[in-house]
Amino acid sequence: MEIKKREFKPGNLLYPVPAVLVSVADGEGNANLFTVAWTGTVCTNPPMLSISVRPERYSYHMLRETGEFVVNLTTESMAFATDFCGVRSGRDTDKWKETGLTKGSARKVLAPIVQESPVSLECRVTEVRELGSHHLFLAEIVAVSVSEAYLDANGTFRLSRARPLAYSHGRYYGLGDCLGSFGYSVRKTPEKKAKARRREKSHDKQQKSEKR
Ligand SMILES: Cc1cc2nc3c(=O)[nH]c(=O)nc-3n(C[C@H](O)[C@H](O)[C@H](O)COP(=O)(O)O)c2cc1C
Repeated sequence: MEIKKREFKPGNLLYPVPAVLVSVADGEGNANLFTVAWTGTVCTNPPMLSISVRPERYSYHMLRETGEFVVNLTTESMAFATDFCGVRSGRDTDKWKETGLTKGSARKVLAPIVQESPVSLECRVTEVRELGSHHLFLAEIVAVSVSEAYLDANGTFRLSRARPLAYSHGRYYGLGDCLGSFGYSVRKTPEKKAKARRREKSHDKQQKSEKR
């Protein structure tokens, strides 16, 4: 039976996405932060990401001035601050003070990192495309800091333990249960492995008897 579909006018319904906190600074080192959901990974090597920003944002001139910014991942416990930074402007609000988020020194860029964030990606802009309502900043990731609290005994980074925040169609969510890991759809389960072993064994037996 056909599943009924309704036509919507063309628009952005690409969800869920992360809602990140982007920190920026002007040439004098005055720092601001704002929320961005139009962000994405665009290249593995060199490591690159993009953010799309409306020119009317207070942060926009800082991005243009320094060509640098930091993408700070957010967590469930940062949901309130993430929303606040997306509805108040640095023009008239000190968002660091109001949210209690703490500035930390970045390794390679002037903009600070958000200390409470589990992952901070320091970026240098390589290209700006003026698309329309939003200008797309393509940027290279030049340094990465992760919170040691989420490293396990083997030193492996476990992002899920930070409880990352997702944004979907106007609402914030946690991630819920893990449903599988990369490639699990084709990975052999113990039952499948045992079956494959049995098949191999019977194949070997058959070949031996054919040789006799
Ligand atoms: C969940 C969420 C996602 C947002 N995503 C974007 C975005 O991708 N690009 C953008 O220009 N503004 C985005 N905004 C709006 C800005 O964060 C908001 O206008 C902010 O107040 C700008 O801060 P500023 O004036 O201090 O630079 C988003 C807001 C929220 C709440």
